[in-house]
Amino acid sequence: MKIYAHRGYSARYPENTLASFRAAASYPIEGVELDVHLSKDRELVVIHDETIQRTSNGNGFVKDLTLQQLKQYDYGSWFGKKFKGEPIPTLGEVLQLFQHTKHRINVEIKTDRFVYGGIEELVLKELIKYSMLERAIISSFDHEAIKRVKKLKPEVETAALFSNIILQPSEYMKHLQADAMHVSGYYALRKPVRMALEDGFIVRVYTVNREDHALALASLGVHAIITNEVEKMVTLFQN
Ligand code: G3P
Ligand code: MG
Repeated sequence: MKIYAHRGYSARYPENTLASFRAAASYPIEGVELDVHLSKDRELVVIHDETIQRTSNGNGFVKDLTLQQLKQYDYGSWFGKKFKGEPIPTLGEVLQLFQHTKHRINVEIKTDRFVYGGIEELVLKELIKYSMLERAIISSFDHEAIKRVKKLKPEVETAALFSNIILQPSEYMKHLQADAMHVSGYYALRKPVRMALEDGFIVRVYTVNREDHALALASLGVHAIITNEVEKMVTLFQN
């Protein structure tokens, strides 16, 4: 079973920080997943939410703050005192960290709520700058963003994220022309996902933190799990 570290090694480190990605990079896993938004001055920043409240000591929407303003806050203390002062990383800073590893990088474009015009071009530009396009997977719940990525760079692997059941996944995927499906763990064992696997689609499942779930998914034949529990899953699938 292939393993992706969800927001880095987020069970033990503050999600989407360099500390979390550095920890993930030390494991022999397939890759890491991260979330990107666009700041007021159009810098790609790695954070899950549209706002910085939950994961920092600041307030406000990412889109209303410049990179310099975003960098003033602490994105580690909410998780643990020893992570005090962890800054928000840019996409470039995370890519640099993985430049000399073999990990795949799953960049999730977070245009679910705000459109962030042109974010697809900026993500592609950054991946090209670090020569990491070949090992990137660009995913989104926003399937318009996936379409735009494919149009701009047909060779880059894309994945459509699904938080819910769709009835005819293979037809939908053919229409969308995405390369893979990233499906929620709640629905992974249901019939449509089995159908997609039978039809040869790549299926990765998020966010799988329990060993029994991971084993059930392995018997189903899914291609990868995206997990917060990196060490636990590495140990489970070691042999
Ligand atoms: O990309 C998989 C997963 O991260 C999607 O959900 O909300 O954790 O970004 P979320
Ligand atoms: Mg994500």
